[in-house]
Amino acid sequence: MKGVILAGGLATRLRPLTAVTNKHLLPVYNKPMIYYPLEAMERAGIKEVLLTSSPDHAGHFANLLKDGEEFGLKLYYAVQKNPKGGISDAIALAEEFAKNEKILVLLGDNIFGYNLKDAVEKFEKKDKGAMVFGVKMPTESKQYGVIEVDSEGKVISIEEKPEHPKSNIAQTGIYMYDHKVFEFIKNLTPSAREELEVTDLNNIYVKDGSLQCKIIDWWIDAGTSHDELLRANNLVAEKVKLGELT
Ligand code: G1P
Repeated sequence: MKGVILAGGLATRLRPLTAVTNKHLLPVYNKPMIYYPLEAMERAGIKEVLLTSSPDHAGHFANLLKDGEEFGLKLYYAVQKNPKGGISDAIALAEEFAKNEKILVLLGDNIFGYNLKDAVEKFEKKDKGAMVFGVKMPTESKQYGVIEVDSEGKVISIEEKPEHPKSNIAQTGIYMYDHKVFEFIKNLTPSAREELEVTDLNNIYVKDGSLQCKIIDWWIDAGTSHDELLRANNLVAEKVKLGELT
């Protein structure tokens, strides 16, 4: 399985911190944000990772991360021409890189401690399908994708930032896909916010009956607001000091 980390976007929700730099280069406690998904890839046993970013910032990642050796990874880079293209538009850049292998996709601003190694190994053995990872939120969540799941972990529906959430399970930025993902993306059309949405992509797998959801313990999307970025800094500092995160 190959890895894909998405580090593009305009990060307007974090202005002015992101006026001249990419949000994934901002600090989270003692490291740039992008280190966390890279380390999660290494823990998951992934060897080769493609990092996607915008034309303005792709070079900054190459300066910082070079060939990925420091992380025990072989790192490749791709430029997303339209920084507002959306998550599925960025995943499409990995078609040649993935060849016919399955992919693990991580959003570059998502921080979590869960070790994906077992999930990756199980997913490798599957014939087809996709997997999303969810987190139970203390209250219903309107700012994320919201996942409805049956008792066996099969996804019944996912709605993007719904007015009336059907569950308290938020869709994280951790996804695993079979090689059909690239064909499915070609059939997507832009949403109201003019992006190729990951939720629309995942709902193609829902229709096919082949989307599973795994619930993980904690997770932060550090890119949603200044408050979430601050919370990510504090939580990571606490977990590092407790030895729960390196
Ligand atoms: C994206 C997805 C959303 C998901 C979130 C997780 O939201 O569209 O479904 O819950 O990432 O980080 P965005 O950050 O693009 O608003």
